[in-house]
Amino acid sequence: VENVGILAMELYFPSQYVDQTELEKFDEVSTGKYTIGLGQSKMGFCSDREDINSICLTALHRLIDKQKINLHDIGRLEVGTETIIDKSKSVKTFLMTLFAKEGATDIEGIDTTNACYGGTAALFNAINWVESSSWDGRKAIVVAGDIAVYGKGPARPTGGAGAVAMLIGPDAPLVFDCGVRASYMTHAYDFYKPDLSSEFPYVDGKLSIQCYLNALDNCYNLFSKKMRKTDPNFKGLLSLDGMLFHSPYCKLVQKSLARVCFNDFLNIPAEEREKQFPGLSEFSNHKLEDTYFDREVEKAFMTYSLSLFEEKTKPSLHIARNVGNMYTPSLYGGLVSYLISKSPDQLIGKKFALFSYGSGLASTMYSINVCHDMSTGSKLEKLISSLHETVALLDKRQSVEPSKFSDIMDVRTKNYHSAPYEPTGSLDVLFPGTYYLVKIDDQRRRTYDRK
Ligand code: ACO
Repeated sequence: VENVGILAMELYFPSQYVDQTELEKFDEVSTGKYTIGLGQSKMGFCSDREDINSICLTALHRLIDKQKINLHDIGRLEVGTETIIDKSKSVKTFLMTLFAKEGATDIEGIDTTNACYGGTAALFNAINWVESSSWDGRKAIVVAGDIAVYGKGPARPTGGAGAVAMLIGPDAPLVFDCGVRASYMTHAYDFYKPDLSSEFPYVDGKLSIQCYLNALDNCYNLFSKKMRKTDPNFKGLLSLDGMLFHSPYCKLVQKSLARVCFNDFLNIPAEEREKQFPGLSEFSNHKLEDTYFDREVEKAFMTYSLSLFEEKTKPSLHIARNVGNMYTPSLYGGLVSYLISKSPDQLIGKKFALFSYGSGLASTMYSINVCHDMSTGSKLEKLISSLHETVALLDKRQSVEPSKFSDIMDVRTKNYHSAPYEPTGSLDVLFPGTYYLVKIDDQRRRTYDRK
């Protein structure tokens, strides 16, 4: 099989959001802290009407409907999530309700978990399956979803929620490069969820940023090395048309692109630096590991990379800025944003790199090529036009004032572990086609309906 990759995608984000400018006032932090300091505009959130099963069902149903997928043509269904409710029972089993009612039950795959990385791991599983001897000719679907919520305090404005569903198979318009995936995995306690009675993580904000940037350095350097093996002319960022990142908040992504440039700077021979990076020679002796929070390096390379950021990365941040950190779908919201910012003509033949990071930690940089030939060109057109419809829903959402948002969060927090339970969140506010939680019974079994 050839050209294995993404054939189609769908996205789901909640119909309610809180405005970050209003949240700054409500939280009594300085004006601009969330909007400029973190680079966030709006944060999507769910009431107690939605949980991980419902949001994944919503995204999956949207994909199946819009792409008119024959359920018997799916041989693998993978889920990536870090939103855990039934512990031993996977979200995938809930998604099977859609397939089982059509008698389609011969479907491999379960859930994969490691913070925001699970979606990428699930995607790799699906790609690997299609490329393997186990493949039976059918397609795979990958669903990544999370409800990202933090306790009151500085991390709360970096929440979000959403789910993405991707159809995987051969002859795709978005093809995964072979042999250049570069991973960095190690142990860290930067963000984890040891308290199973709470929806909130334990998070060491500063450590998590350091871990993210360290993982980026490692993945990017290894990725560049592997790219140079297949293409000796590979020149780092200059050889890539786009660079997409997992986005905890948009400012960190801009800093990450600057960091990529700092890596490129260190990776070229000293005598060539002044030509490509005028005025930055003073940083020649700086080391990656000493500079995670070095303001001078950060400022110099943020300035250097500004136009590169505008061109190669900023278009990927539209959903991240307006929904927040969706965790596992974050990078794929980045892919959606990037794709809809361009016409199919502008995308044909382009190559971009994607950086996936999950605390704890697991990370990979990999690359996607947009296919050239005409038959995939029309698939690309279809993929993009369907995404335009979905992303247009951003403007159809309801703004909720911060005090009401805080109350809705309190309801979630208070009832997180309650059973039996009947949710009270509004149904009116949900987009048509949204799955919602009807009730949790005394055996903690959940039932859902669709609006
Ligand atoms: N105007 C403009 N900028 C401002 C203002 C203002 N009025 N006030 C503050 N800022 C800037 C700060 O200078 C800072 O910028 P810097 O990052 O360049 O230093 C930024 O806004 C944030 O302010 P801090 O004081 O550093 O924020 P705080 O420490 O309160 O919280 C943090 C930020 C750590 C990101 C927190 O939101 C958090 O813990 N989030 C969850 C963890 C996270 O997302 N980690 C990232 C990787 S791991 C993952 O994906 C979960």
